[in-house]
Amino acid sequence: MSVRRLAEDQFQPAAFAFNDENAVWADKTIKKYPAGRQQSAVIPLLMRAQEQDGWVTRAAIEKVADMLDMAYIRVLEVATFYTQFQLGPVGTRAHVQVCGTTPCMLRGSEGLMKVCKSKIHDHPFERNAEGTLSWEEVECLGACVNAPMVMIGKDTYEDLTPERLEEIIDTFNAGNGASIKPGPQIDRHFSSPEGGPTTLLAPDPKPKASAKKAVGDAVSLPPSEAGRPKSADAETNPALKTPHTAPKAAANNVKAVEAAPLPAPAAKPAKAAAAPAASKGLADKNRPVGIEKPTAPDDLKLISGVGPKIEAILNELGIFTYAQVAGWKKAEREWVDGYLNFKGRIERDDWAKQAKALAKGGEAEYIKVFGKKPR
Ligand code: FES
Repeated sequence: MSVRRLAEDQFQPAAFAFNDENAVWADKTIKKYPAGRQQSAVIPLLMRAQEQDGWVTRAAIEKVADMLDMAYIRVLEVATFYTQFQLGPVGTRAHVQVCGTTPCMLRGSEGLMKVCKSKIHDHPFERNAEGTLSWEEVECLGACVNAPMVMIGKDTYEDLTPERLEEIIDTFNAGNGASIKPGPQIDRHFSSPEGGPTTLLAPDPKPKASAKKAVGDAVSLPPSEAGRPKSADAETNPALKTPHTAPKAAANNVKAVEAAPLPAPAAKPAKAAAAPAASKGLADKNRPVGIEKPTAPDDLKLISGVGPKIEAILNELGIFTYAQVAGWKKAEREWVDGYLNFKGRIERDDWAKQAKALAKGGEAEYIKVFGKKPR
């Protein structure tokens, strides 16, 4: 890192003041920060001072420190730390920052610096005879993909050749810098390939059936599935290490998935919905009263949401008829819902209304009420 010091006294003006417009802007900027945090405005204020005078003078540092109630040394630290702040006078029309970091160096930044030396000055930070131009070498400016590049003011000029940089410098020196379009200086849009895109020109064709199947298989096999030898799965099929990485990893390893089929899953336990929740004790006062199994129990499966397993559980609780379900009070419905771990489904499916219709007139009444056959 280079040593950064303030310019010699001979260059330092006696005082600094923001012009009217910038003074209003500075006040507004300081007020953006919460009480006691005004010092956070130090970088914007220093940058505005630089934009006004071309560089950051000692007087500007002291002025900003006074405005923000900061010690001079604190603002000096900021100004000398960030290379974006110019600590000495620079060209009045352009200060050319040439990136010399590896990608730009490999793509010809040394040639750009030769241009700066010949057209501006042999040494960085020295101005040309008229005082209109200066240059320096800087570290990566984040446009490596379009190397080599330079920055002038707030704009970058990319994909440069020495010849193009000469033209740019001449244009700035003539006071017409604004006429140059920043960004790539070749036939390239942002960082797209030169001459236009070369890939993804048409919509992606349908993925191959085998790839689709392999991805689908991997996605549909959660690693937590009961009975599966988890560690063995993870070893033979990295795509199954976590549920979140499975789809992507599977897509990348389609062949591996196809070559190493997964072992057949062992017998699955009953679905969670069919397992009564332990928290709802059978002795709970809200448990609906059961009855002996009648000779002709109702088909509870006609109630939407009740399948054979749920019907069996209901029967175990002594629930055999529509009338029983239709007569449950809210607390009883909630008890059954919790017992079945249904998470509110009994209310959502409106078992009470369904059971009432079925109890009153069977399927015909159900159709009358709901406009469709049960189940
Ligand atoms: S290396 Fe030059 S912009 Fe990144």
